[in-house]
Amino acid sequence: MSAPNIDTIVSLAKRRGFVFPSSEIYGGLGSAWDYGPLGVELCNNVKQEWWRWMVHERDDIEGVDSSIILSRLVWQYSGHEATFHDPLVDCRDCKGRLRGDKLDFGDEAPADSNRIAELITQKRVKCPNCGSRDLTEPRPFNMMFRTMLGAAADENDPSALAYLRPETAQGIFINFLNVQTTMRRKLPFGIAQIGKSFRNEITPGNFILRTREFEQMEMEYFVRPDAEHLKLVDEWVEQYVEWFATLGLDRGNLRLHEVPPEELAHYSKRTVDIMYRYFPERPEEERQWEELMGIAYRTDFDLRAHSNKPVDSEGKRLNADSTDDLSFFDDALKERFYPHVIEPAAGVNRTVLAILMEAYSEKTNDKGETRVILKLRPQLAPIKAAILPLAKNKPEIVGMAKAIKRSLQPVLRAVYDDTGGIGKLYARQDEIGTPFCVTVDHQSLEDEAVTVRDRDTWQQDRVKVADLAEHLQTRLKE
Ligand code: GAP
Repeated sequence: MSAPNIDTIVSLAKRRGFVFPSSEIYGGLGSAWDYGPLGVELCNNVKQEWWRWMVHERDDIEGVDSSIILSRLVWQYSGHEATFHDPLVDCRDCKGRLRGDKLDFGDEAPADSNRIAELITQKRVKCPNCGSRDLTEPRPFNMMFRTMLGAAADENDPSALAYLRPETAQGIFINFLNVQTTMRRKLPFGIAQIGKSFRNEITPGNFILRTREFEQMEMEYFVRPDAEHLKLVDEWVEQYVEWFATLGLDRGNLRLHEVPPEELAHYSKRTVDIMYRYFPERPEEERQWEELMGIAYRTDFDLRAHSNKPVDSEGKRLNADSTDDLSFFDDALKERFYPHVIEPAAGVNRTVLAILMEAYSEKTNDKGETRVILKLRPQLAPIKAAILPLAKNKPEIVGMAKAIKRSLQPVLRAVYDDTGGIGKLYARQDEIGTPFCVTVDHQSLEDEAVTVRDRDTWQQDRVKVADLAEHLQTRLKE
């Protein structure tokens, strides 16, 4: 079983401290979300899993952590200033601001703004909010967030203009030579980064699926120009599908989407999106999917664009501002070239949402009550073990439970809870995905043993306190 819809997760996330609507006491800030005590642990666990898989367990990947605010020139030469646009359409009646490419055009997906404009007139396209047909022509809206650098900066001073990054990738490209030379890397090798990105989305929504501030896990894999690029894209797709399975995602809820040429980003020659079934409640299967991540073949576009050497047909430098050449001398080939790039780009938040949806399940107890169980993979669970005293008015039991919790703390994330009856405490831990509850009872004082309850089966085992840490660690790896 998985969650029937995103709303089920929104409500669980708020009720149990995973994700809260941001700025709620001031009426909220459209589609911004704050991660609570359990949400931050889950996000950290996803990022740790990714870093371990992508960087530590491979021999060919290095990590970086670059600035969120980069020189404006980075975005000029990357093409984002000129092309990182969405077509913005206004509804003259309800004043709604709409993504032109997401309007309902029937079976045609318009390739560009000219076609969107034609179809709006020809098909008398309706505003999805109010049904009016009085829509403006699309105009390009740049999605990068602008800011001004420096205390004395005037709001209109172009020399102070900077952007919050809309992708972490550019921080990798501009550090390509730094990483390659300091780490003495030869091709192929990759550079990975996790960090926040910002896009002034016209229509954010669907909880943490599309927000203006989000987190990415990106890796740029640098290869020779004659590598089998398209095959490498397929290989990364396959590796990611397997990785998502280790996080608990069902293969049946994933599907691949070959992005058609007219929809490719300006830097891409091929992109395959891995889609997740975020909307299982929609009757038409085609509308159940949204992008979880994308794997793109970016060619040598970015390294070339940031280099000071390439020239146009008249010998004029294409990049007049860069002070370096990001080409690579291949000792084996005795050749200098701009490496080509395969880029798997995933979102932390979309991964977390898919994991929560997939882990959601319900079970009926022997009293006929329905309980929610979040069947998170143990490595992702925010809390690994909850230590619960059977009687909170018995100081010896409480003392023993607290001592057990402290003894587990150095090896795994454990909490102590005595704020309810044992049934309620179990239910709470099941709902937040804690794999094991450890109960200290009267007998424990005598036999130095505790009851370990399994989240998924509700089966209980008696375990000696002396063996508990090892027992839990072994079972967490199963
Ligand atoms: N560097 C390539 C790049 O940024 P993208 O497909 O635009 O490619 C990669 O973004 C991933 O980042 C997406 O697949 C998605 O998981 C995440 N992402 C993009 N925009 C997002 C948004 N507004 N809210 C949440 N996640 C987003």
